[in-house]
Amino acid sequence: MIRSDELDRSFVQEVMAEPGGEHLITCWSCGTCAATCLVRRFDPSFNPRLILHKAGLGLREEVLSSEEIWQCSACDLCYPRCPKQIHISEVMKAIRNIAIREGYEPPGPFPEVDEQICSGCAVCTRACPYEAIERVTKVVDGEERTVAQVTKTLCMKCGICVAACPSGAMNLESISDRELISRMGAGGWLEKPGYLQGGAEEPRILAFVCQWSIHSDREWEKIRGLESDQLRIVNLSCSGRVDPAMILMALTKGADGVLVVGCKEGECHYQRGTYLGRSKVALLEQMLEQLGIAKSRVRFAESGSLDRFLFPRLVREMVEEIKASVPVVA
Ligand code: FES
Repeated sequence: MIRSDELDRSFVQEVMAEPGGEHLITCWSCGTCAATCLVRRFDPSFNPRLILHKAGLGLREEVLSSEEIWQCSACDLCYPRCPKQIHISEVMKAIRNIAIREGYEPPGPFPEVDEQICSGCAVCTRACPYEAIERVTKVVDGEERTVAQVTKTLCMKCGICVAACPSGAMNLESISDRELISRMGAGGWLEKPGYLQGGAEEPRILAFVCQWSIHSDREWEKIRGLESDQLRIVNLSCSGRVDPAMILMALTKGADGVLVVGCKEGECHYQRGTYLGRSKVALLEQMLEQLGIAKSRVRFAESGSLDRFLFPRLVREMVEEIKASVPVVA
């Protein structure tokens, strides 16, 4: 039940006065954005239509204090489908700006910078799709240094900065290097000899899969059921989080092939993760040639929102390709 004395009628004007918030009033509340939203697959309580509706009603405190306003990652998949052409992410940003001024903060955890290791090289600054990392000059261990600093109110926790940092100074709990390496090797998977080493009947594939690229829980369940001695799946927050060093490590251990699956270009939840993931794999492929490792052992594939059960086919294709193109050590 909504009590009229809880409504702040000036909130609509407040949001509309923020850059990007001017479209709030034009929302029909049709729900097309909610039907398109990727976040809802992981968190059904997130509903952009409802947030805009509440803001339009004037439920100021409820909207500003909710965790949901921080969940929109501005992937903008909803934008082309909105019949009123409302840039939902821009309205959400306008609401967040007010929340920030009121002292609200998004829920963590956020990437942490190890300032003792950080060289201030700015690779993470350039890689971040949200311009959430800046370089600041401060005193670290009695010495004036330039280091990276994460702006929590802009960060979407995609982990792209963690993979980009050349000195390993950036860390994000749950998708840290240590966490991913431990998932790759759990149960001694990486230590078992592969097909190319003559130790397995079939090529052993390690797959890094963007969690947003598989579009239903049922599909994830089925994919998880495929895991075996021949297939290890490590899910990533985004394909932009993939680390070429981990791919190389897998190839030099027990993996015959490494498959990286990201969202289709234009559908990445973090704007340009697909581009970054694909580019990293393409660069690595060039390096593999110089190292004498067959290019067919690494592949980047895109899984679009209309693709269903594409993953098993990608694995099968990779297995066949490795068998056809790489001589087995006797
Ligand atoms: Fe899937 Fe970026 S979120 S590739």
